[in-house]
Amino acid sequence: MRETTGFRCQACGYATPKWLGRCPDCGEWNSLVEERRVPAKPGARPRPPAARPVLLAEISADGAERVRTGIGELDRVLGGGVVAGSLVLIGGDPGIGKSTLLLQASRALAEHAGPVLYVSGEESAAQVKLRAERLGIGAKALYLLAETALEEIEAQVAALAPRFLVVDSIQAVYLSGFESAPGSVGQVRECGARLMLLAKSRGVSTFLVGHVTKEGALAGPRVLEHMVDTVLYFEGERHASYRILRAVKHRFGSTNEIGVFEMTERGLGEVANPSAFFLAARPRGAPGSVIVAGLEGTRPLLLEVQALVAPAHFGTPRRTVIGADYNRVCLLLAVLEKRAGFPLQNQDVFVNVAGGGRLSEPAADLGIVVSCAGSFAERAVAADVVVLGEVGLAGEIRAVGGLEARLREAAALGFKTAVVPRNNLVGPGAAHPLEVRGVATLEEALGLLIGRGHDPESSSQP
Ligand code: TYD
Ligand code: MG
Repeated sequence: MRETTGFRCQACGYATPKWLGRCPDCGEWNSLVEERRVPAKPGARPRPPAARPVLLAEISADGAERVRTGIGELDRVLGGGVVAGSLVLIGGDPGIGKSTLLLQASRALAEHAGPVLYVSGEESAAQVKLRAERLGIGAKALYLLAETALEEIEAQVAALAPRFLVVDSIQAVYLSGFESAPGSVGQVRECGARLMLLAKSRGVSTFLVGHVTKEGALAGPRVLEHMVDTVLYFEGERHASYRILRAVKHRFGSTNEIGVFEMTERGLGEVANPSAFFLAARPRGAPGSVIVAGLEGTRPLLLEVQALVAPAHFGTPRRTVIGADYNRVCLLLAVLEKRAGFPLQNQDVFVNVAGGGRLSEPAADLGIVVSCAGSFAERAVAADVVVLGEVGLAGEIRAVGGLEARLREAAALGFKTAVVPRNNLVGPGAAHPLEVRGVATLEEALGLLIGRGHDPESSSQP
């Protein structure tokens, strides 16, 4: 006997009582999957202990004690460490390094804080052991369990009473009372709810791994986002060695922190000075290379934008953008053409953020425009200059946030001059850690940086 509870979209989680060829919510075709449930045996689903209202003043916050994982960059993103009984979801593309990160964190936690149970639903215990050996992990209190049945995992947690639990991955585990396949929205949601209960009732801090599908949607895990305490994304270019860990939701701290890692032969290493890492191989005095002072959350990050502008030989000129938004770059090229008179309509333009970095904020606009203009004009920007500013459609340079943090980072890395929006400099003259030149228009900036456009001598100083 089984009961159909309806259909659910595997892409967005939309539920409907009848099957449809196309999800009315996200527009995906053939994404609705039937969800069935065998009637629950009495008492099969554990219930949380009944709660009663408590006065706010009487609640102690001791539960929010944090345990350091010993991996500085992970602790930073977690707001200082793992909170007891918290549920953390780590999402990311397959092969990005989620298992590696959690295995390394498990080692540190097992050594300093208490027993860790690492449940591997995708690799056998022997495979995990091999990886652990490569990473030089031999912690005593680290237990491995190759299991996918959630009831079994719950039983092992009850027997072992670990302080930390890693479930790798949430898409691999399943509840036998549920007929949909492991990894389906129904299974993921139900397993997530059970693990949440386990974490809260036993005070076990739990990490769940969730794979992002090829299309970029966190199909299964997305339905967990509202449920868990913390959602972290692990991202990076597969072929570049750096990885960024980013909090997109955090009940116990800020979502503005990022952690930067480097994938090496011996696992993930922390990158304590990411700017130096990204600038390590930059060419000096090369036209088209510009250093931008970006901000990742609250963390300043210097990145190099490279542009190559060359005559197109046939047809429509190409625009290729890696590491920045394609449409934004097209818009900036139009501004460069119209407002500064650069004839780009018969030029191929290639823009790349070096080292596999990513620039998504408008503050990088001016750097991108200047690199394209510099490559076209074969004029290099001085090697000790950083550039920041948002470029408007009228060719105006607009103020950016977090100026002080950006300038401090640039000064710390030995840059001597920063070209910034003049609007950022109004008000009492602050003491800047390096020479600051304000610009109000694109022409003025080009004149100052590559000696093209507006006459540099007539541009007034800040
Ligand atoms: P993994 O942690 O298995 O990724 P995920 O769990 O997110 O799917 O990482 C797999 C990749 O990392 C794999 O392509 C090999 C690489 N890697 C290293 O380069 N060095 C190492 O020490 C380890 C363990 C993995
Ligand atoms: Mg893995």
